[in-house]
Amino acid sequence: MRRTRLCDILGIDYPILQGGMLWLATAELAAAVSKAGALGIISPLAGMERHGDPAENLERQLSIARHLTEKPFGVNIPLDLEYSGTLIDVVLTKRVNIVVTAAGDPRHYSTLLHQEGIRILHVISSVRQAEIAESCGVDAVIAQGIEAAGHHGFDELPLFSLIPQVADSVTVPVIAAGGIVDSRGVVAAISLGAQGVQLGASPRASLSLMKIAKAIALFDGHEFVTPDHVQEIAVPAIAHRMVLDPQARFSGATAEGIVEEILKTIPVPT
Ligand SMILES: Cc1cc2nc3c(=O)[nH]c(=O)nc-3n(C[C@H](O)[C@H](O)[C@H](O)COP(=O)(O)O)c2cc1C
Repeated sequence: MRRTRLCDILGIDYPILQGGMLWLATAELAAAVSKAGALGIISPLAGMERHGDPAENLERQLSIARHLTEKPFGVNIPLDLEYSGTLIDVVLTKRVNIVVTAAGDPRHYSTLLHQEGIRILHVISSVRQAEIAESCGVDAVIAQGIEAAGHHGFDELPLFSLIPQVADSVTVPVIAAGGIVDSRGVVAAISLGAQGVQLGASPRASLSLMKIAKAIALFDGHEFVTPDHVQEIAVPAIAHRMVLDPQARFSGATAEGIVEEILKTIPVPT
């Protein structure tokens, strides 16, 4: 696969990032992705026990990842958490090299992180946010379209409209996120002006939604996945991508219809 400017900035072989996913992006996942030549990203709450300490959990995840790989990996810090500042302290003291900030104002921590030589990528969903992030000196922006699972910003622009607008407005590399499923999506994003892609739930098709719902349920202290958990994760995750299912069972179905089908597969607790 062709290298882009992003590969040199991040020290990776392929211009592909695994997205931060609050409870799911563990050190093991990130290390496996990094070992394969892309960039793995750890989420601070991943693998944490209920009522655990996020800062301690992040420290633990960092030592696991460092044990598993010498390749570069990043840490995702959502800026809207009450303990975001504490997590920033951890990445500074543990000398993390790459930080992906999201869901907040990049002006808060960019200078501090840069002073310590940390590469910063910031998630944006509009041209205005991209310009603000660039003015803070971030090394790249992650343009996340409405197709993305998880929080996708308030602007709700489809990815393939967002990429060229952002690429024409900033000089830092643009990484495209949201609804990219396979190599065709990667090629399309790059031809629209992206220098790389970030992948989250999309490449894993609908079955993985059950795994995600299960992770949320366990995190909430439930032994079984409840319809609420499926609603919470599945509706936003699939609302905008109807063709992901490998058997095309859900192609063209509404999000609600897909959720209904998934709910039928949940075992009833006895
Ligand atoms: C379950 C889940 C949790 C997520 N949590 C975060 C998060 O904590 N921080 C973040 O920056 N992005 C988060 N994302 C977004 C991903 O990093 C990624 O950009 C997005 O999933 C890409 O779109 P895709 O799911 O269509 O591949 C999350 C995505 C999912 C599916």
